[in-house]
Amino acid sequence: MRKTIFDIQKMKKTGHRIAMLTAYDYPSALIAERAGVPMLLVGDSMGMVVQGYDTTIPVTLEDMIRHTQMVMRGSKTSLVVADLPFLTYGDEQTALVAAKRLMQEGGALALKLEGGEQIVPTVKKLTALGVPVMGHLGFTPQSQLQQGVRVQAKEIEDAKQLIKDALALEKAGAFGVVLELVPAQLAKIVSEKLTIPTIGIGAGAGCDGQVQVWHDLLGIFDSKTPRHARRFTEIGAEMVKAIHQYVSEVEAGQFPTDAQSASMPAENVQKLLN
Ligand code: KIV
Ligand code: NA
Repeated sequence: MRKTIFDIQKMKKTGHRIAMLTAYDYPSALIAERAGVPMLLVGDSMGMVVQGYDTTIPVTLEDMIRHTQMVMRGSKTSLVVADLPFLTYGDEQTALVAAKRLMQEGGALALKLEGGEQIVPTVKKLTALGVPVMGHLGFTPQSQLQQGVRVQAKEIEDAKQLIKDALALEKAGAFGVVLELVPAQLAKIVSEKLTIPTIGIGAGAGCDGQVQVWHDLLGIFDSKTPRHARRFTEIGAEMVKAIHQYVSEVEAGQFPTDAQSASMPAENVQKLLN
């Protein structure tokens, strides 16, 4: 059975911490679910970790649709949330058009939007029309060129505004909210004030759940690991090792062997040679 927003919300109520992970394609969805991840995010972080850009800004709605389709083909049990990308939800009408495409064509089961009070009318509209919405506060990567990549809401006025934004999103119908790069103490306060789950990234252990980027957690890149991430393994190094061995064995004539080859009856070979 596939997880729903109610299953995720119930985890907060029962004190069961929520482990969310990004996935961008068919194999990553399959593997994440084999490992028991209850909620997947088709993040526009794909702009950086899949497409090789410096920000999420170049990611298009077409990209999101296509990659959400891939994830959905690999996913059976998790709640799949997809990001509405840069400037696809600037006003309610635009947001409805983008949401319709990402859900109907992409197959997304919930959508994530960045921003606080300013997007509340859009969140209200979407949730009133049946779209499960997740909020995203603190550092919001689609505003990276304006915000810079830095911890947000350290100052009291900004921290108060973030609390207001979180409460406003909950009231507007959001089923959960991501808190990115905010002080752990603030994230804990927000998590206690909200009845919907908070999902942190660089926001400390006081959140109801955590989200990590696939490539960061698995140690794919030899550089580029942000401070808020932990490399739980070194898959990049494993990949290099395996591919290097493949190259060596091809060069040495050790691959392929009979095990990877097909053969024909000896008499046919004889006829070919005659
Ligand atoms: O795109 C993404 O991966 C995200 C998470 C970092 C929350 O939005
Ligand atoms: Na994102």
